[in-house]
Amino acid sequence: MSKQADNVRDGRGAGARGGAGDSEAGAPRAAGDATTVGRALREAAESLRESGVGDARRDAATLLAATVARDLAFLIAHSDDALTPAQLSLFRERVSRRAAGEPLQYVTGRQEFFGLDFEVTPAVLIPRPETELLVETALELLRETDDARGARPPLICDVGTGSGCVAVALLHERKGARAVAVDISTDALRIAARNAARHGVFDRLALVASDCFAALDAASSRFDLVASNPPYVAEGDLGGLQREVREHEPRVALTPGGDGLCVIRRLVNDAPRFLTPRGHLVMEIGFNQHEAVRRLTDPRVWTVLDIHRDLQGIPRTVALRLNG
Ligand SMILES: C[S@@+](CC[C@H](N)C(=O)[O-])C[C@H]1O[C@@H](n2cnc3c(N)ncnc32)[C@H](O)[C@@H]1O
Repeated sequence: MSKQADNVRDGRGAGARGGAGDSEAGAPRAAGDATTVGRALREAAESLRESGVGDARRDAATLLAATVARDLAFLIAHSDDALTPAQLSLFRERVSRRAAGEPLQYVTGRQEFFGLDFEVTPAVLIPRPETELLVETALELLRETDDARGARPPLICDVGTGSGCVAVALLHERKGARAVAVDISTDALRIAARNAARHGVFDRLALVASDCFAALDAASSRFDLVASNPPYVAEGDLGGLQREVREHEPRVALTPGGDGLCVIRRLVNDAPRFLTPRGHLVMEIGFNQHEAVRRLTDPRVWTVLDIHRDLQGIPRTVALRLNG
């Protein structure tokens, strides 16, 4: 990448595109002391590096790409283009926020999950790559039970939906399915609604403000599958989280307090009333919680189907099937 970038910086990349001297973003080719894309990137990377940001060059490029609403390839090809004063001012403001420790995703307002682009704000947890395992496990279980359901499309519940990433990814993959997504945070539900609309699944998703299942009616809501990435960090472990996470992500998304297991306990205890016979509960769990979660599951009620490990080998997703 740096080799390519150097080629562009010396004018060859930009020149090869030809044109009348204006960039595709509408800014004139740099003249005099105007700040070019390349210079802005170098200055931002330097500032981020001095602030202790790990991958300063990558973050600088991501922030600039978001600012000019283009991709990274555009920056490489337009290294000599001048930024407009408005772009430069917005970019510098974003670099300052990142340098102060705000997560990149909150600054850009975006995070990719399961191949989809999600809006994120400080009201929601930033979707993590390991949570894709929860979605994959849920999709596999839905596939395995397709024959038993016949023509009836699956009904899913996502408890603690946050940005909506799990419910939206599931509905995006399963075109006929419907889902109920609950969260205790109404601010989070607003973001989930926007993400559902963005990915064309809003019509198949009901968003409900609820403390776990409290606002749902077991008589009218019977789910084929309940998926949840609940808050699971033990209160005493909060201090060991990365500073960025601890200081910027919503506390309600990280920990339910105490030993970190109370929402998981409620899911295991309450989900049976909301599931169809032999329905599934799939949960993401925290580091070293798998044995405790096993102990929570009454074998007269649940069969533990699997505990999937993430790419780091950490037991991360528990799949349970209701006996019956
Ligand atoms: C770890 S985040 C998961 C967000 C999203 N599903 C994801 O995977 O990125 C947990 C979510 O659960 C919500 N939450 C916390 N306690 C809850 C409760 N008692 N009932 C419902 N939602 C809760 C939080 O507001 C947060 O959005």
